[in-house]
Amino acid sequence: MKAISLINMKGGVGKTTMAVNIADCLSRRYGKRVLLVDVDPQYNATQCLMKAEDYYEYKISNKDTIIEIFERESHLEVSVVEGNIDKEPNAIDEIVPFSVSEKFDLIPGALDLYKIEMSAGEGKEFGIKQYLATVEEKYDYVIIDTPPTPSVWMTSALLASDFYLIPTKADPISLTGIDLLYTIIETKTRRYGLSGLKCCGVVITVAERSTINYQNAQANLKANARWKNKLYTYSLCKRVDMAREQLNQKFILDMSDTQIKSDLNNIVKEMLSRIGDDVDE
Ligand SMILES: Nc1ncnc2c1ncn2[C@@H]1O[C@H](COP(=O)(O)OP(=O)(O)O)[C@@H](O)[C@H]1O
Ligand SMILES: [Mg+2]
Repeated sequence: MKAISLINMKGGVGKTTMAVNIADCLSRRYGKRVLLVDVDPQYNATQCLMKAEDYYEYKISNKDTIIEIFERESHLEVSVVEGNIDKEPNAIDEIVPFSVSEKFDLIPGALDLYKIEMSAGEGKEFGIKQYLATVEEKYDYVIIDTPPTPSVWMTSALLASDFYLIPTKADPISLTGIDLLYTIIETKTRRYGLSGLKCCGVVITVAERSTINYQNAQANLKANARWKNKLYTYSLCKRVDMAREQLNQKFILDMSDTQIKSDLNNIVKEMLSRIGDDVDE
């Protein structure tokens, strides 16, 4: 099992889109057993995978979400139907993910993640790592979608990961952000002794390849000693119907557009090769 976090300190750069579609592509195209962990309190990845009414049902029937991974003591859940319910936690190895499709499971995110007291040093930031140790044999890949803030949630994802992948847009501000991200990850690496954590690349998303911004971004990354070997050959092209498709729980592989499907496939192939897993198609 290999765990990969999608990470960037900026929002709106395609982290969630890449996380959801890399997971779908790995399971559907390559037959891999995949778990997606949504550790962003905004839970956009979950919304891309579960209809609003299904998620509501799921929550009120007390099924497991990311909360169970962090909250190891009993906690109050506010239910719209029943008021406060005191929820006893399962043992960490009894947590049951939601099944998206045959080989694709999800630990759904939850807005109530904001309610969990979690300061660094309390030990809760090891939650995802501890959970993944219990499902080591069950999955080939774990994809972790993270929030854009350098929070304990981001730390918990990095602590559980073998690799991190940086999606970025091709604008100058986004590119400044990735240098800052690098500094933050370096600090965490030192603090927690994460010598095994490796960057498996930088991928440009929402790409308009004919624009000056895109060409400058590519040129700047290639001229930068830190990033030149990290930049992916392929980028994910911009398609205006992406947001609408996501609202209907559609994946890139379901879209009729052949360009974006081929971009996704090429990115996944490059990612696999960078993490040392070359595959036959
Ligand atoms: N390739 C793309 N083309 C057009 N829109 C995109 C593309 N990728 C993502 N988006 C849209 O951009 C917005 C931000 O993407 P998202 O994946 O949620 O970013 P993040 O997780 O970094 O905040 C969403 O509305 C999404 O639908
Ligand atoms: Mg997101």
